[in-house]
Amino acid sequence: MCGIVGAVAQRDIAEILVEGLRRLEYRGYDSAGIAVVDGQSNYQRLRRLGKVNELAQVTKNTSVIGGTGIAHTRWATHGEPSEANSHPHVSGDITIVHNGIIENHVPLRTLLESRGYQFLSQTDSEVIAHLVEWELKSATTLIEAVQKTAAQLEGAYGAVVMNRLDPKRLVVARSGSPIVIGCGVGENFLASDQLALLNVTRRFMFLEEGDIAEITRHEINIYDASGEQVEREITESNVEQDAGDKGKFRHFMQKEVYEQPTAIINTMEGRIRPGEVITESIGVHAVEILKKVEHVQIIACGTSYNAGMTARYWFESLAGVSCDVEIASEFRYRQFVTRPNSLLITISQSGETADTLAALRLAKERGYMGVMTVCNVAGSSMVRESDFAFMTRAGTEIGVASTKAFTTQLTALLMLVTALGKEQKRITQEKEKEIVDALYALPTQIEKALSFDKQIAALAPDFADKEHTLFLGRGEFYPIAVEASLKLKEISYIHAEAYAAGELKHGPLALVDADMPVVVVAPTNDLLEKLKSNIEEVRARGGLLYVFCAPKAGFESDQSMKIITLPHVSDITAPIYYTIPMQLLAYHVALIKGTDVDQPRNLAKAVTVE
Ligand code: M6R
Repeated sequence: MCGIVGAVAQRDIAEILVEGLRRLEYRGYDSAGIAVVDGQSNYQRLRRLGKVNELAQVTKNTSVIGGTGIAHTRWATHGEPSEANSHPHVSGDITIVHNGIIENHVPLRTLLESRGYQFLSQTDSEVIAHLVEWELKSATTLIEAVQKTAAQLEGAYGAVVMNRLDPKRLVVARSGSPIVIGCGVGENFLASDQLALLNVTRRFMFLEEGDIAEITRHEINIYDASGEQVEREITESNVEQDAGDKGKFRHFMQKEVYEQPTAIINTMEGRIRPGEVITESIGVHAVEILKKVEHVQIIACGTSYNAGMTARYWFESLAGVSCDVEIASEFRYRQFVTRPNSLLITISQSGETADTLAALRLAKERGYMGVMTVCNVAGSSMVRESDFAFMTRAGTEIGVASTKAFTTQLTALLMLVTALGKEQKRITQEKEKEIVDALYALPTQIEKALSFDKQIAALAPDFADKEHTLFLGRGEFYPIAVEASLKLKEISYIHAEAYAAGELKHGPLALVDADMPVVVVAPTNDLLEKLKSNIEEVRARGGLLYVFCAPKAGFESDQSMKIITLPHVSDITAPIYYTIPMQLLAYHVALIKGTDVDQPRNLAKAVTVE
C-alpha cells in the first residue's frame, strides 16, 4: 500500500526519488520521506506529514546531495499519519523503508527493547531497522544482516535497507510486497512499481517471493529464499511513459473514465474476430482446460469482486456452467470444499491485492483444475503465479477509484464466458455471433454514454447535500448497482448502499424518504416489469428516484422521478454500458463536494496488506 523508491547512482538522486514518489502517490499519501547519503557518508533525512508535494517543497529548499538514497510514501497501518511514523526509519547507521505489515512486530519490539533499542515511532516497520542494526554487529555484509533479519520477520514486506557507512549499495528484500529493480547504465534503481522509474529506465527485473538483492551502481546480485544466487530476467517495460499524466483532464479518474472505449478495444484486440471469440488467445492450454470445466470459483476484492459478481450471471446464463464468487478475505479463512473440475479465477487490477493473492496461493494447494487470473498488470504476482493469465489491457490506472479496470474486466470475462460456452458446445454459433457483435459495438456505444456527461453533471447537486443514497438493480444489474454505490461512497464520502431491487421490501424500504435519492439501473430486459413494481414501492413512500433506462422503457419524468434515457444497446453488454453513467454521477458529486477524487481519504490503490 505504500510506495518505495531507491537509487544508487553517481549523480544526485533526490529529485529522481521525489519524482518516483509522485508517480507512486496513488499507493498511499499520508506522509512521505527521503534519506540520501553521499560517497563520504554525509547523510540527510527529510520527512513530512501529508502528500508528496510537502516533501518535494522541503527537498527543493534544502540542498540534498548524494547518489544513494531511499524514499517512501506511506499509507498508515500501524500508527497514525505523523512525521514520527513516516519512513525512512533509522537505527544507528541503518535506514530502512518498508511496505507491508510485520505481523510479529510486538514480540520483536519487546526483544529489541530488551537489547536497549529505543523506538521512536508506533510503526511495525521500525523493528526492521533495529533488527538489521543488531544483526550487522555479527554479520560480515549488509546482505547477510538483511537475510538474518528476514528470517525473523512474519508477515508481508518489501523493504529496502541503506547503511550510511557503506553508501555504495542498497539491499532490498521481497516477501509479499512487490519490488522491481530498474536497470540503468552505471546506476541502478528499485521501486515498488515500475511506474516510479519510467523516467530513468525501461528495463526491469521483478523480484520473486523470498528474494533478497543487493544493488550497486554496476551490479545486481539476487539471492532466493534458500540463499542461492539466482538470475532474474530483464524485461523491457511496455507501460506508457505518460501514464502518470492527466493530460487535458482535471483528474486521473476522469481521464480513465474517458479512456474506456480505447481500453475496451485494446482488451478485445486479437481475442475476437467477426462472429467468434478466439479461445486460443486466452492461453496456451485454454481449449483443453475450458472443455473440462464443470464449475468456476471466482475470488476478488472490491470493484474486481463486483466484476466477478456480474460475470457469474454470464457464466450460468450464457455458458451453463455453475459459478460461485467470493470475497478473497472471506474465502481464504474459511473451510471450503473444492468442487470437481473447478477452475479458480482471481480478478484483480493490480495483481498484488494481498487477500486475493493469498487466496490464489491457497487454492493452488486445494485441487483446482487450474488457476487463472484476469489482471491488468503484466509481471504482477498474480500473473506470475497463475497457470494462465487473461490480461485486461486498460493501461495504467492511477485513480484510486477503479473505472476502466472494471469495464475491461467485464469485457475480458464476457469473452471468457463465450469461449467456455463455445468449447462446451452450449453456446451456438448464432449466439456467439450475437455476443461478438455486441462487443464490437460497445466502444462506440460507450462514447455515446460519455456524451451524457453534462446531463449527468446536472443531477449531481441533488446528491451532494445528501447523507445517504440507495442504488437498485436486478439480475446482472444488481452488481452494477453495487459498483455504482462503491464509486459514490469512495470518492464523495456519501453513504451509499446497493440492493437487489426485490429485497427492498424486506428491510431497506424503511429508510426511504425525500432525503435519500434512489438510483435505479433499469435497462429493458425480462426483469423490467418487476423493477417497475419496486420503483412504485419507493414512489409510494415519497422517495426521489433517478432512473437510468433505455428508450421505450415506459418511464416518464415527474416530480418524484427523473428519467435519464440512454441509447439502446444489446442486453448482453448492457451491464458494461450502464456502468458509465454511474461513474460519471459519482465523479460529478465528488467534484461538488470538493473531495480528493483521485486519492480519496483513507484509501490506497493497491492493497498489498491484509
Ligand atoms: O487491484 P485489485 O483489483 O485487486 O483491487 C481490489 C480493490 O481494492 C479495488 O477494486 C477497490 O475496491 C477499488 N479501488 C474501488 O474503486
